[in-house]
Amino acid sequence: MRIYVTRAIPDAALRRIANALPAARLEVNPEDRTLSAVELREHARGADALVCTLADRIDRALLETLAPRLRVVATFAVGYENIDLEAARTLGVRVTHTPGVLTEATAEIAVALLMACARRIVEGDRLIRAGEFRGWKPLGALGHSVYGATVGVVGAGRIGRRVAETLRRGFGCDLLVYSRSRRPDWEEELGARFVDLDAMLEGADFVTLHCPLVDETRHLIDAAALARMKPTASLVNTSRGAVLDEVALVDALRRGEIAAAGLDVYEREPRLAEGLAELPNAVLLPHIGSATHQARNAMGRLCAEAVIAVLAGREPAHALV
Ligand code: NAP
Ligand code: GLV
Repeated sequence: MRIYVTRAIPDAALRRIANALPAARLEVNPEDRTLSAVELREHARGADALVCTLADRIDRALLETLAPRLRVVATFAVGYENIDLEAARTLGVRVTHTPGVLTEATAEIAVALLMACARRIVEGDRLIRAGEFRGWKPLGALGHSVYGATVGVVGAGRIGRRVAETLRRGFGCDLLVYSRSRRPDWEEELGARFVDLDAMLEGADFVTLHCPLVDETRHLIDAAALARMKPTASLVNTSRGAVLDEVALVDALRRGEIAAAGLDVYEREPRLAEGLAELPNAVLLPHIGSATHQARNAMGRLCAEAVIAVLAGREPAHALV
């Protein structure tokens, strides 16, 4: 059996696979970069199992090349818009992902970005480093309070819930929620109000995105949506870059249509929309939502268990197909 891993993942996960399947040939891309489509096809050829990342495009053409030998694709991520699930289903390839174990890590980053926007933390850091701090001043670097603010949450899932809990219980925020399904537990336990997108955008002081990237959410936040937000509001995106129209965001930030944005994800990662990096009111992180030792080890463990289960003829946990 051959198992191909497209990027280095935590050692413990590789050891777990090697121990459980000692006769298998386990190969890991030795280079610290995402493979091109051609490289991926060549390296994955002949694999019984593939461990991939969110940056690998697992499309029908690739799956057709690798099936029927390929039995499982275990993605080292919770988001899976890069994988053609329908093709996998037709070709009999199982697909698994890593939900739950990165929820807290990603929620932390969303809250951190929200705070950074509200209190202009990165701007302040830059000012100090530029030697421009002349001492405390009554009207310097004023931001917006998070305590008691109204927070709009898009996507009432695992990560959205942690963010909502943190802001509700820790900061007394009111919650306006826009999601696919209404969640009575959010209403009862967090006092959340489920509203339509426009009402959420118009009422929120902070908007934070936690839905998956699907056809219905691509550019959900476009120029018209940004125009509905308060000029004092901030937008946080830790979901997927394309949920937001990044060019429209640059425009809205430039024109002061919204106060600030905190982004962990980008439409054309690792590239940024023109002008975004020059904006003082944008806080930009390099897609590190799940980047804690704890979360990444747990993600590796889930991938390893999925590969082991499928190759042993067992049902894997967290199967998408
Ligand atoms: P989840 O538990 O599945 O939550 C997603 C939520 O979005 C669900 O409540 C879902 O509704 C809702 N939703 C689905 N389609 C929608 C639509 N068309 N409009 C509005 N809401 C919709 O997923 P999660 O674990 O919280 O992760 C959320 C996303 O975060 C992932 O898909 C991934 O893209 C992103 N993520 C990013 C990082 C990072 O490093 N920045 C890390 C982890 C995850 P239902 O309740 O009806 O299903
Ligand atoms: C990260 O972005 C993930 O989807 O796990």
